[in-house]
Amino acid sequence: MSGFSPEWLALREPADHAAINAQVRLELVRVLAGKASPKVVDLGCGAGSNLRGLSPWLPAGQSWTLVDYDQRLLDAAQARVARSPLSPSPREGGGTSVTYRQADFSAGDFAPLIAGADLVTAAALFDLVSVPVIGKLADAVTANRQIFCTVLTYDGIASFLPEHPLDRAMREAFNRHQQTDKGFGPAAGPNATEALAQAFTSRGYRVIRAKSPWVLDQTFERLRRELDQGWANAVRETGAVPVREIEGWIAHRLAAQDAVTVVGHEDLLAVPV
Ligand SMILES: C[S@@+](CC[C@H](N)C(=O)[O-])C[C@H]1O[C@@H](n2cnc3c(N)ncnc32)[C@H](O)[C@@H]1O
Repeated sequence: MSGFSPEWLALREPADHAAINAQVRLELVRVLAGKASPKVVDLGCGAGSNLRGLSPWLPAGQSWTLVDYDQRLLDAAQARVARSPLSPSPREGGGTSVTYRQADFSAGDFAPLIAGADLVTAAALFDLVSVPVIGKLADAVTANRQIFCTVLTYDGIASFLPEHPLDRAMREAFNRHQQTDKGFGPAAGPNATEALAQAFTSRGYRVIRAKSPWVLDQTFERLRRELDQGWANAVRETGAVPVREIEGWIAHRLAAQDAVTVVGHEDLLAVPV
């Protein structure tokens, strides 16, 4: 089951929205522009961040289906929507409706989940997914000639200020941890966007991809501290770096007044040609 708490997802949401690549989003807006009342399926929706980030950009009268296997996160998403209803698209007026669906897609059975959607989307999901399941997703999406857009897939690039001699070893160990099984078989981790790009281009789609890094400076101080700690915990699990060295690294990160952590992501849009 998911290790993603509603609190963690809420903490990262502003940084996620700030990081989304404007070029990829603009192209998505362009390809969906003529589509009245689009139907959208958000895979691995968590507490609904992707809905809140993307819906203001899409045509009016949207119907979203939020899919996750974690009922606690679906409940959090529903509570947030109830607390602050989504405004009609500022572009044309017209409300956005949302339904919630609990489903585990680790076996790659996407077809019933995405049936009828104009757009299949996801955020911060595909680095968890295996290359074979990415292939199954591309099979299902391309069979229906649907549009696909995923954002914030970790790309293996990370840097830290102020620097520390262990930064490189920490990044390499973390990237290995990213490729362990997250429920889908060995995760694509930093190779996920390349796997998605190959899967969609080989099935005849046009693919656009561009970077969407987090730059976690003082604006995102709490997120930066929790993230650094999360990295230390993940690296500890790998056994690749001695525990005392990890403790030295995290102490250095937490002591720095003006620390910055940069985490690379990539966004990808795939469109039938
Ligand atoms: C990193 S979180 C991203 C959540 C959300 N998209 C966001 O941007 O805040 C990954 C999400 O994928 C969901 N997830 C992971 N494996 C899944 C699976 N096999 N089936 C359905 N959902 C899954 C998790 O429960 C979690 O909500």
